[in-house]
Amino acid sequence: MALSVPAFPFTLVVHALGISLLVLVLVWTTDFRGGFAWESTNKSLIFNIHPLLMLIGLIVIGGEAIISYKSLPFTKEVKKLIHLVLHAIALVLGIVGICAAFKYHNESSIANLYSFHSWLGIVIIVLYGIQWVYGFVIFFYPGAPNGLRSESLPWHVVFGFLVFLMAIGNAAIGFLEKLTFLENSGLAKYGSEAFLVNFTALITVLFGAFVVFSVLSQVPAEEDNAYSPI
Ligand code: HEM
Repeated sequence: MALSVPAFPFTLVVHALGISLLVLVLVWTTDFRGGFAWESTNKSLIFNIHPLLMLIGLIVIGGEAIISYKSLPFTKEVKKLIHLVLHAIALVLGIVGICAAFKYHNESSIANLYSFHSWLGIVIIVLYGIQWVYGFVIFFYPGAPNGLRSESLPWHVVFGFLVFLMAIGNAAIGFLEKLTFLENSGLAKYGSEAFLVNFTALITVLFGAFVVFSVLSQVPAEEDNAYSPI
């Protein structure tokens, strides 16, 4: 299934929304929430690392990795390498981001893994890791026989898409959850920070939608995405 429109305008919007997300999450975590620290007596600064890295990693870089076959002007081999490296960066940032959430909870004597957001978060990061390792072994090194490679490709695409969309949904839930905590502690429901957080969640969902459009749209005929060994 594909949309009979070129990918270019959609991938351009993905880049623009990705940069906007980066700016929005930085403004929120620094200007409104005081910035970041791995070690601090102010434990909120440890928490702030979590939304920053999850958004930059699994959402923005992960999304850019997914559309790399549609958005970049290189050969298929180079695009494959970029896809693999971007996903590796996304995975590492995701793991460190989740560690920051655990560290914040542990040092603030808050229970771990009590929410749907946290359960889904663990599922996402585990599946992301499995997806990356399977993709690396089958398509890159050492590489599987051609039959297994081409049978694996549609599964790799669908599974990767699913994990990405779960990450989009979970990031939106994370924003909602954090904003609800803040509002319960007195933050104004119609104030500028509440608006910023809700708006960031909205842009996150839009980013996901444009990644979907990009993946389903067309690349020029000579750049089709069929599997070929690197
Ligand atoms: C796809 C991206 C995300 C994943 C995979 C993820 C994953 C996780 C995990 C595994 C935890 C549990 C930590 C623990 O139990 O100690 C957690 C906690 C938390 N996350 Fe996220 N997160 C993501 C994005 C976000 C974003 C964007 C926000 C926005 C602020 C956020 C807000 C929170 C909050 C408030 C907690 C603490 C409460 C709780 O455990 O539910 N998360 N996250």
